[in-house]
Amino acid sequence: MSPPLLRVNEIQAEYGRLRALHDVSLEVPEGSIVALLGANGAGKTTTLRAISGVLHPTRGTIEFDGKRIERMCADQLVRLGIAHVPEGRQVFPELTVYENLRLGAYTRRDVRAIDKDLQRVLDYFPRLRERLAQTAGTLSGGEQQMLAIGRGLMAKPRLLLLDEPSLGLAPLLVKEIFHIIAEIRAAGTTVVLVEQNAHMALNVADYAYLLRAGRVVLSDSRYLLSHPVIASVFCEAIPNLVVWRLLRRHKTPPRNDRVSSHDSSANLRQREEVRRAYLGH
Ligand SMILES: Nc1ncnc2c1ncn2[C@@H]1O[C@H](COP(=O)(O)OP(=O)(O)OP(=O)(O)O)[C@@H](O)[C@H]1O
Ligand SMILES: [Mg+2]
Repeated sequence: MSPPLLRVNEIQAEYGRLRALHDVSLEVPEGSIVALLGANGAGKTTTLRAISGVLHPTRGTIEFDGKRIERMCADQLVRLGIAHVPEGRQVFPELTVYENLRLGAYTRRDVRAIDKDLQRVLDYFPRLRERLAQTAGTLSGGEQQMLAIGRGLMAKPRLLLLDEPSLGLAPLLVKEIFHIIAEIRAAGTTVVLVEQNAHMALNVADYAYLLRAGRVVLSDSRYLLSHPVIASVFCEAIPNLVVWRLLRRHKTPPRNDRVSSHDSSANLRQREEVRRAYLGH
């Protein structure tokens, strides 16, 4: 079996004296969508920052395409093929849509291929095509999110890191964004997707990791959907000790394929209940 495109191995990350990540490990196979889920403050953004070189982990290793990258800076990592679309869009408000997109390709010199990628991005987001000359600060929130994703794609990444792409968007637009994320993967880009919208994320993701207080507490997408512990993980009011006890009781999650081939009606019913109660669907 080929090694994963990205392997994060027991990383710790700190902001001054606050340890935000404790031994976080995850693997991202090439061509997949991997979701990172968790409540506010769980460490999702910090994990993406460590992967994209915005901050350096204080312990642990990160491998991308077999290379150690945990000491590389963000600029080097863009050139290696990692694009990070940060939380809160962060487009350049004074620049036009076209200029923002063009800036996404700042590391590239292949003018023809850049033009082709620009067309591809505008095909994904026709609303941006109509607004190429408009300043980004005057776009709606949803359009700014499209621009932020489009700018990330202009770097022609092998790995796209998306931090809460659906945040604050109307349901119809959320659906559109997730549809495009699936298309981006189908076109060959591997995606790590940070989301609080667990239901939508699990619909498109191949795998998922659930973070709580800086630790990975669950992994594997199908199982997450039906796992009763997911509630306690999202509910910060329940202490870690109780979560650990629950997790111990539930032992190791079964493999994806086994879950799908043994979906009894009781399991499906339970999954639906959990979904309705905890995932707001
Ligand atoms: N720049 C910073 N300085 C100090 N502490 C920080 C900083 N950024 C994040 N933290 C802390 O690190 C922890 C993890 O934060 P992080 O932003 O990774 O969470 P998150 O899972 O992305 O949450 P959210 O869903 O709210 O975006 C939190 O306790 C947060 O307060
Ligand atoms: Mg965050």
